[in-house]
Amino acid sequence: MRILVVNGPNLNMLGVRQPEIYGRETLADIEVLLRNRADQLGDVELAFVQSNHEGTLVDELQQHRDWDGVIMNAGAYTHTSVAIADAIAGLDIPVIEVHLSNVHKREAFRHHSYMSPVVWGQIVGFGFRGYMAALDLLYSRLTDGTPA
Ligand code: DQA
Repeated sequence: MRILVVNGPNLNMLGVRQPEIYGRETLADIEVLLRNRADQLGDVELAFVQSNHEGTLVDELQQHRDWDGVIMNAGAYTHTSVAIADAIAGLDIPVIEVHLSNVHKREAFRHHSYMSPVVWGQIVGFGFRGYMAALDLLYSRLTDGTPA
C-alpha cells in the first residue's frame, strides 16, 4: 500500500511557525511518527512531499495517481486553490484533508475549503495527531474496504 503525504506552503516551518497554533513538532518529527506507525501497520510505503508552490503540489498529485491514498494538508491553498481541488477531483484514490489547527475556530477566510467537496473526509484541530489518524483511516479503508 502506497500513501503520499503532501504538505503545502509554510508547513516546512512547523515547529517555529506560530507553535501556539500549529504545535512544536516539526515536519520531520511528523514524518518519523508516521513512518513508525507505517512500520507497525506493515506493508505501507510512505512518500513525503512539501512545497510552497501550487503547481508543484498539482504535479505531485498527478504523478502519484496510481498510488493508493493521499494525506493532504494544502495549507493556505486549501482556501484559494481551484487547481489543487481539480487535481484531487481527477484522482481515483481516497484523499484525507488534514489541518493541524481547527480552521473553523479561526478567521472566516479559513472556514471555506476548496478541498472538502472532493476529499474522502477532513480532520481538523488535532495537531500532528490528525496525520496519524488519517494514516490509520486510510489503512483500514484500503485493507478491509470499510469506510470509517
Ligand atoms: C493549516 C490551516 C491553514 O488555514 C493555514 O493557512 C496553514 C495551516 C493547518 O494545518 O492548520 O498553513 O492548513
